[in-house]
Amino acid sequence: MKQSLIIALDFPDVIQTERFLSQFPSEKLALKVGMELFYQNGPSIISSIKERGHDVFLDLKLHDIPNTVKMAMAGLATLGADMVNVHAAGGQKMMEAAMEGLDKGTPAGKERPLCIAVTQLTSTSEEQMNKEQNISGSLTDSVLHYAKLTQQAGLDGVVCSTHEVKDIHHRIGRKFLTVTPGIRSAGGNVHDQTRIATPEQARSFGADAIVVGRAITASKDPLKAYLDMKAAWEGISC
Ligand code: C5P
Repeated sequence: MKQSLIIALDFPDVIQTERFLSQFPSEKLALKVGMELFYQNGPSIISSIKERGHDVFLDLKLHDIPNTVKMAMAGLATLGADMVNVHAAGGQKMMEAAMEGLDKGTPAGKERPLCIAVTQLTSTSEEQMNKEQNISGSLTDSVLHYAKLTQQAGLDGVVCSTHEVKDIHHRIGRKFLTVTPGIRSAGGNVHDQTRIATPEQARSFGADAIVVGRAITASKDPLKAYLDMKAAWEGISC
């Protein structure tokens, strides 16, 4: 999933998902299955996407006591997703338990899915974090703190905004993955995101993968929107 443009399949059902995917007949895609699709359709959605040859990031953002997360991850590891995630706010022990569960559940001969942690959601503003989470200081400091905790727990990387990528790579190292949502083309609809960037900016900041949802899924021509975004991400001028 490294260097991928990951499309967020934020659809309620399989029919809409299939209709969307049918517009990409010859592309090998990296796809994100989130709560909306997974909770309404169950684990079979993962195998049906994998059977089409696509990569899957299963974005369920686990956040519970360590034992529950460990057992849940052991189950998720059997589904064949390439990447899964947790909330770093669950703490180091919870993240270590997630890794234990993944190691335990990954079938013999298969690779353990990558595991990354959400730092601060890209929809969260600094003001909101200060007031509602009662975390003082800057958003960047909070993201860096969570990224360090994530590394100490042995995970592969974090979900963060593009604006924190440089600091994270500087402090933690270039191999630590930064997966960045909140991606919009210049002048595109921001929706509920606050810390946004264009694919070009994400690339110049050194993001390892970008997650793009509505800028592609809500477009009148999703294939064109995808190809344009991908070219911008890969630095190819159309
Ligand atoms: O439509 P949009 O591009 O804003 O979608 C972003 C996707 O990335 C959504 O599926 C959302 O759940 C996910 N995400 C996010 N911010 C995070 C983690 C995940 O927006 N920090």
